[in-house]
Amino acid sequence: MMISETDKPSQARAEETAASPPLLDVQGLGISFRASGGSLSVVRDVTFAVQPGECVGLVGESGCGKTVTGLALMGLLPLRSSRFQGRIDFSGEDLLSLSERQWRRIRGRRIGMIFQEPMSALDPIFTIGEQIGETLRTHFRIGRAEARDRAIEALSKVGIPEPATRHDAYPHELSGGMRQRAMIAMAISCEPDLLIADEPTTALDVTVQAQIMDVLGELSARSGMAMLFISHDLGLVSQTCNRIVTMYAGEVVETGTSDDMLTRPRHPYTSGLLRSLPSFTPRKARLPSIPGRVPRPGEFSEGCRFEGRCRYATPPLQGAADAGAAA
Ligand SMILES: Nc1ncnc2c1ncn2[C@@H]1O[C@H](COP(=O)(O)OP(=O)(O)OP(=O)(O)O)[C@@H](O)[C@H]1O
Ligand SMILES: [Mg+2]
Repeated sequence: MMISETDKPSQARAEETAASPPLLDVQGLGISFRASGGSLSVVRDVTFAVQPGECVGLVGESGCGKTVTGLALMGLLPLRSSRFQGRIDFSGEDLLSLSERQWRRIRGRRIGMIFQEPMSALDPIFTIGEQIGETLRTHFRIGRAEARDRAIEALSKVGIPEPATRHDAYPHELSGGMRQRAMIAMAISCEPDLLIADEPTTALDVTVQAQIMDVLGELSARSGMAMLFISHDLGLVSQTCNRIVTMYAGEVVETGTSDDMLTRPRHPYTSGLLRSLPSFTPRKARLPSIPGRVPRPGEFSEGCRFEGRCRYATPPLQGAADAGAAA
């Protein structure tokens, strides 16, 4: 069952959507990986859009397909072992039909990404500034001196104190929070139209997490950059994003405004995510969680994939079960 905002048309939203075409328009995206004995469907029929300058959250538990979706939007899934369905339109271009050469024009330049594993994205043998400068020089015809100035400017934009000194530091010389800021600086250095932020704060303590969220919110507000913010934390996402897309077991189950999702979630999975937020539970009470686990690719059921964990699911009628067994 997929629930979307279009079930409840709003005049204002319809006018807004008609006025500006989406920056990113994902239509019926399907992703399968080649596996022994055939192909494994990991993401199915994912549809959502991001308007220019808009911040959209992509939420769901671990293993729901958020990162795989994000990597597809960056053209980073291996072409030899991945199969795609549907369309990903970005600024009117169909990203799924681009060659690797054409991708290099867009990846890192028009779409930036903060990766879920920050340490694996930073190279330990180059300074922070060299890595940002390299990204800049790949996309712009600039010399080393200008690359340095622009890298320092990016470090300063993400609130790194003494950016000129930090420019010459190696990743291991920075704290976790500063490294994450450096990652954000690298992702925004080419001033992309869209930033994909995949769990940008998960490894950080709560205070630093709040600072990074502020940095991202400010960057988006100041520069007009759109953002796809990927997280398992519905509460965190709702603070920064105006719209939220909920994924479950490789599918989108609900799309709506953050306000609607927090106050009137319509899919039982979104309600379950909401109930398991600490802020929705009285102090000292045990935090409820959704029983069971996300099915893995290959275990998906034919009908509603959430059925096995859904509090509203009903056992099949006896007659229907008998008919099924007889068939
Ligand atoms: N290259 C691959 N081949 C086969 N299966 C894969 C591959 N990459 C990811 N998967 C599977 O796809 C599913 C979705 O993975 P994904 O990393 O997108 O989840 P996620 O929502 O980002 O989870 P998390 O919150 O833990 O980051 C998982 O079951 C994962 O094991
Ligand atoms: Mg992930």
